[in-house]
Amino acid sequence: MEKAATTAFLSFALVLMVMQCFIALGGGTANYSSSDESALLALKSHITYDPNHILATNWSTNTSFCNWLGVYCRCRGRDRVTSLDLSHMDLKGIVPPQIGNLSFLTYFNISHNHFNGHLPAELGQLRRLKVFDLHSNDFSGEIPSSIFNSSSIQQINFVNNSLSGSLPDYLCSHLPKLTLLWLSYNEFSGDIPSNWGECRELQHLSLEVNKFTGLIPRGIGNLTLLKRLYLGSNNFQGELPPEMGNLRSLETLSLYSANLTSSIPSSLFNISSIKELYLYENQLFGSLPMDICSSDVHGLEVLALYGNQLTGSIPQYVSNCTSLEKLDLNSNTLSGKVQCVSAILELALRCSADSLEERMNMRDVLAALKKIKILYLTNCG
Ligand SMILES: *[C@@H]1O[C@H](CO)[C@@H](O)[C@H](O)[C@H]1NC(C)=O
Ligand SMILES: *[C@@H]1O[C@H](CO)[C@@H](O)[C@H](O)[C@H]1NC(C)=O
Ligand SMILES: *[C@@H]1O[C@H](CO)[C@@H](O)[C@H](O)[C@H]1NC(C)=O
Ligand SMILES: *[C@@H]1O[C@H](CO)[C@@H](O)[C@H](O)[C@H]1NC(C)=O
Ligand SMILES: *[C@@H]1O[C@H](CO)[C@@H](O)[C@H](O)[C@H]1NC(C)=O
Ligand SMILES: *[C@@H]1O[C@H](CO)[C@@H](O)[C@H](O)[C@H]1NC(C)=O
Ligand SMILES: *[C@@H]1O[C@H](CO)[C@@H](O)[C@H](O)[C@H]1NC(C)=O
Ligand SMILES: *[C@@H]1O[C@H](CO)[C@@H](O)[C@H](O)[C@H]1NC(C)=O
Ligand SMILES: *[C@@H]1O[C@H](CO)[C@@H](O)[C@H](O)[C@H]1NC(C)=O
Ligand SMILES: *[C@@H]1O[C@H](CO)[C@@H](O)[C@H](O)[C@H]1NC(C)=O
Ligand SMILES: *[C@@H]1O[C@H](CO)[C@@H](O)[C@H](O)[C@H]1NC(C)=O
Repeated sequence: MEKAATTAFLSFALVLMVMQCFIALGGGTANYSSSDESALLALKSHITYDPNHILATNWSTNTSFCNWLGVYCRCRGRDRVTSLDLSHMDLKGIVPPQIGNLSFLTYFNISHNHFNGHLPAELGQLRRLKVFDLHSNDFSGEIPSSIFNSSSIQQINFVNNSLSGSLPDYLCSHLPKLTLLWLSYNEFSGDIPSNWGECRELQHLSLEVNKFTGLIPRGIGNLTLLKRLYLGSNNFQGELPPEMGNLRSLETLSLYSANLTSSIPSSLFNISSIKELYLYENQLFGSLPMDICSSDVHGLEVLALYGNQLTGSIPQYVSNCTSLEKLDLNSNTLSGKVQCVSAILELALRCSADSLEERMNMRDVLAALKKIKILYLTNCG
């Protein structure tokens, strides 16, 4: 049964590919192949710095551009560019509008270079684009609204640039296939869109370290496939919406330094998939829910709440949190076995990393914390 389905799928995919080749071949009088070549040559001519002479020596017109480094084609003989991967090449320059002519492009990755300037509106013509990775470059200006018209896009990673402007409310209705939207470490501002319900496929959303303002929209609670949500280091106002408790696939919630003033909705601790909760440096008040590790929640590993105005006692049931590796309640006015907690805090503070790189090493640090967890649970529980 499974085999038959696979075979059927493969033949279907093959038919699609042949059709695409056919369309590419029969699409009128335009010479698409030479248009793809001239788009790549336009890019090459806009590279102002290429320390390893990669494009200068490799992108030579005496061989088909399908053999050029980082260029991948489909439909051999028709020579249509489907992927362009120039990541980690130390290139400097701009992305020229001609790139919008690569109409078969599905994968575009120029991450970890020094591309600058604005993103050309013509990028919105890439109707087949699925993966769009520009992270760690020097792009500035706003995202052209045409890009939000490329309805095939599944992944957008613009992390670590100097992009600004606000996000349109229609983002989700125009990009319904988005699974990943990473815009952190930029200068985006304005309210974050309220209407997330239509981004049904979204699994990873990161808007942290920007200048977003306004309320955290309740609509975020509709993203039931969301696994990672990073919104920290922005200037929001108001509460942590209780609808977040509806995010039944959520594993990481990071909302530190976000100017939140509310109690912590107990619904958050109802999410059975939750592993990491970073809510430190806000103005959260009230007491900790008693059932932060109720029998339904097996996975909670990190609970970072330092720098808030939480009161009351540390729930006795914290010892039910058998997976907890990091608990940080410093700078609150909680009572309890604080002296034992503080040993954990010291380590926890050291690994509450702010930078991207440090955070990536967090797993290692957490492994080292396991010992502390045992100490705390046996001597202080
Ligand atoms: C298309 O352009 C390429 C490269 O310039 C050229 O070699 C080829 O002959 C052209 N094909 C047609 C059908 O004009
Ligand atoms: C360009 O790089 C590709 C991939 O490394 C290689 O196969 C090709 O031979 C190179 N072409 C030239 C002209 O150096
Ligand atoms: C192709 O171009 C490259 C770089 O411009 C050059 O090194 C190489 O000799 C050329 N090969 C042929 C066959 O012309
Ligand atoms: C883009 O390239 C970088 C560096 O090679 C890689 O780490 C990253 O996973 C790529 N992005 C996507 C979405 O494939
Ligand atoms: C490619 O794009 C440029 C700029 O967007 C445009 O002027 C040109 O006509 C397009 N077509 C071809 C075949 O190069
Ligand atoms: C951010 O991007 C710049 C290049 O624009 C790079 O030098 C830097 O290492 C990147 N930072 C991180 C944390 O990746
Ligand atoms: C987006 O697409 C619609 C219709 O497909 C078109 O009318 C509109 O002008 C496009 N917007 C941009 C900014 O390209
Ligand atoms: C989002 O969820 C709310 C209830 O929390 C519901 O009223 C609304 O219709 C949902 N929106 C979409 C687009 O699914
Ligand atoms: C922080 O939140 C308060 C109240 O919610 C609001 O009045 C204030 O403007 C916010 N501060 C910033 C910097 O956004
Ligand atoms: C937690 O989940 C249980 C069972 O699904 C439900 O009865 C309870 O109301 C929920 N509590 C909160 C605070 O959402
Ligand atoms: C916590 O564990 C104790 C046993 O160690 C149990 O009696 C209690 O019901 C548990 N509390 C919750 C909220 O799960």
